[in-house]
Amino acid sequence: MKENLESVMHEQRSFVPPQEFRDAATLTADKLQAMQCAATDDLAAFWADLARKNLEWKQPFIQALDDSNPPFFKWFADGRLNACYNALDRHLEGNGGKTALIFETDEGEILYFSFRALHGEVCRLANALKALEVRKGDRVVIYLPMGPQALISMLACARIGAIHSVVFGGFSADSLKDRIRDAGARLVITADAAPRGGRVTMLKETVDLALAAGCESVKKVIVYRRTGVKTEWIEGRDITWDDSLNGQSSDCEPEWVESEHPLFLLYTSGSTGKPKGVQHSTAGYLLGAMTSMQWVFDLKPNDIFWCTADVGWITGHSYVCYGPLLNGLTQVLFEGVPTYPDAHRFWRMIEEHRVSIFYTAPTAIRALMRLGDALPRKHDLSSLRLLGTVGEPINPEAWTWYHRVIGGSRCPIVDTWWQTETGAAMIAPIPGVVATKPGSCTFPLPGIAVDIIDEQGEPVTSPNQGGFLVVTKPWPAMVRTIWGDDARFRKTYFGQFGDRVYVTGDGAHRDEDGYVWILGRIDDVLNVSGHRLGTAEIESALAAHPRVAEAGVVGRPHEIKGEAVLAFVVVKGDRNQAIRDGLAAELREWVGTQIGAIAKPDEIRLVDGLPKTRSGKIMRRLLRTIGRGEAITQDTSTLENAAILGQLTAPAAPGSAP
Ligand code: WT7
Repeated sequence: MKENLESVMHEQRSFVPPQEFRDAATLTADKLQAMQCAATDDLAAFWADLARKNLEWKQPFIQALDDSNPPFFKWFADGRLNACYNALDRHLEGNGGKTALIFETDEGEILYFSFRALHGEVCRLANALKALEVRKGDRVVIYLPMGPQALISMLACARIGAIHSVVFGGFSADSLKDRIRDAGARLVITADAAPRGGRVTMLKETVDLALAAGCESVKKVIVYRRTGVKTEWIEGRDITWDDSLNGQSSDCEPEWVESEHPLFLLYTSGSTGKPKGVQHSTAGYLLGAMTSMQWVFDLKPNDIFWCTADVGWITGHSYVCYGPLLNGLTQVLFEGVPTYPDAHRFWRMIEEHRVSIFYTAPTAIRALMRLGDALPRKHDLSSLRLLGTVGEPINPEAWTWYHRVIGGSRCPIVDTWWQTETGAAMIAPIPGVVATKPGSCTFPLPGIAVDIIDEQGEPVTSPNQGGFLVVTKPWPAMVRTIWGDDARFRKTYFGQFGDRVYVTGDGAHRDEDGYVWILGRIDDVLNVSGHRLGTAEIESALAAHPRVAEAGVVGRPHEIKGEAVLAFVVVKGDRNQAIRDGLAAELREWVGTQIGAIAKPDEIRLVDGLPKTRSGKIMRRLLRTIGRGEAITQDTSTLENAAILGQLTAPAAPGSAP
C-alpha cells in the first residue's frame, strides 16, 4: 500500500485566473471566504441556508442535519419536495421557452428541446409509468443510449417517486442482470439499439438475454425505437415508447417525497465482490449537484454547458441530468464519440454550438492531444471561457495542452475530484479565485471537510507526505447506503476510522501551499479511462471460465487510458496447449461478455501460478511491479512460491492483445 502513497509529482507552475475572468466571476475571494467561515461556524446551518435558497420545497424542512445515528446521516429530513419539479417546473414561468437541450446524434442531426417541451415529455412518460403500475419507491432500470430519452426517463421516475437505476449501455447482459436483480426492478426502459461512433450496440437484445436469465421482478419493458432495427418482441411484456406515451397527458402532478427518499441507485465497483448499488437521496443530492455547479463552473444564465459524460455514470447524473436542469442551463447533449466521423468532432461541436463551458475526462484529452494541435486549431473555440476535467488525475502535460490549445490560455481549468458516492464535486478550484496548478484539484469546496490521515488516523502534517483521503463531516449529497446492505455500507466507507469518517479509497497529499494532489486508488480498484473497475470483479469473471483455475488482475500505467488492465491467469491443464489454443484472446472476449467491453484486459499472461503469501493471498503489489516492467525490489520473504516470478515476467503469451 505504501508504494501508492508516495508523491512523485513536483509540479511547480501555478496559473492565476485571468483578470477578465476574475472581474466577471460570481464568487470572489471575499464571498468565498465568507462562505468558508459560515460553514466552519455551523455546517448544518450553512447547508440549510443554501437548501432554502436553491430548492423549491412543497413542505419546508425544520431540521437540517440528523447525525444521531452515524454513519446514516439525514439531511432536511422533515421536508418534502420533488426532484423533477425542481429540475423543470420551476423554470416554466419565465424560462419555459429557453433551450434546455441541444442534442446532437451520432450521425450529426441536431434536435432542440426547450424546458417546456422536456417537461411535457417527462409528464407523459410519468403518466405512462403510472399506467404500467410503477409506484413510489419502485425501481426502474434505464438502459438507453445517451440522449434525451435517458434524461426524460430519469426525470419521469423522479416525478412519480420511483427510484431510477441507469446502467451504462456498454455493460453486458450478465452485468445488467445482476443490477436488475439486486435492485429488484419492476420495469426496464431500453432502446432497440444505440448508435455510437458509426456502429450500433443492440440494447434490446441484451435486455432480453438478461431477463431470460431470470429477473422475476420485471413486469414490463419499454422500448424506444432509436434505429428501427428489428428486435424480438415478447407480447404482454414489451411495449414501445410511443405506445406507452400515446394518449398520456402532458400534465402530471409530482409525487412530493421526503427529502431522504431515494432518488436513484447507481451501481459501481468496489475492491471486493459484486458492484454495489450506491443509494442517493433526493434533497441532499439535488443540493450538492446544484450548488457545486454554480461554484465550480461560475455559471451565468447564458452559458452553453457541455459535459461529455454518459448518463450511465455519476458525472452524467450530476452534470448532465440534474445539475444543468436545476440551474436552468442550456446544455449540449451528445450521443457519439470524440473521433467519429473524425477527430474534429468535439472541436467542431464547440464551435457550432458556441459552448462556453466544456467538461470532459483526462483520457479524452490525452487521446485528442496525441492527434496534434492542427485539428483544434482549425476551429473557432473562442466561445469557451472555462474548462473542466474529472475522473482521474490529469497529467501536467495533458493539462497544459488543454489549457493552451483548447482554452487559448484564457480559460481556467477546474480539476474536479469526486466519486459516485460523493454525489457532487468535493475538491475543486473556484475558478475566479483559486490559482490552479496542473494536476492538482486544489481545495475542498465550501461545506466539505476533507483531511489526509495516516494509518493511525492522525492527520498528515508535513507537506508532500501521502495518506488516506477522508471526509470528516457529513455533506448533503453523500451516499446514504448500499442498496439493501447497510452493513456493507458501513464496512466499506466507515470501517477504518469510526462511524463519522468517510474513507474515500484514494490516497492524496498536500503540497507546501496546501493544494490537494490525488495519488489514485489505494484499494484494489482500477481506473480505466475514468471508469472504476474492481480487480476482484474481473478476477471472478475470468475464474468463471471453464479453463481458468484462478486469476490475478492489476493495473499498469497507460498513456491514454490512465490505467490498463493486466491479468495473470492460471489455466487448468496444460499451459502450452492453452497458449497454442489462443486462450488469452478468448478470455478477453469472455470478460467482455461477462462484464462489458470496458473491462476487457489489455493483456493476459497465461501462467502456472500466482505469487502468494503463506496465507494464500495473491500478492498484487508484486504483480503490479511486474506489470510495470520494473525490477522487484520489494521484500519477497513472505512469498510462498518465489520460483514462479520468472515466468510472470515473461513476454505476453501469443494471442493476447498488445
Ligand atoms: C474515483 C471515483 C467523479 C466522477 C467520475 C468517476 C478518481 C475522480 C478525479 C480527479 C483525480 C479523480 C478517484 C475517485 N477521480 N476525479 N479530478 N482527480 N482522481 O467516478 O467511478 O466513482 O470514481 O475516480 O480515484 O475515487 P467514480
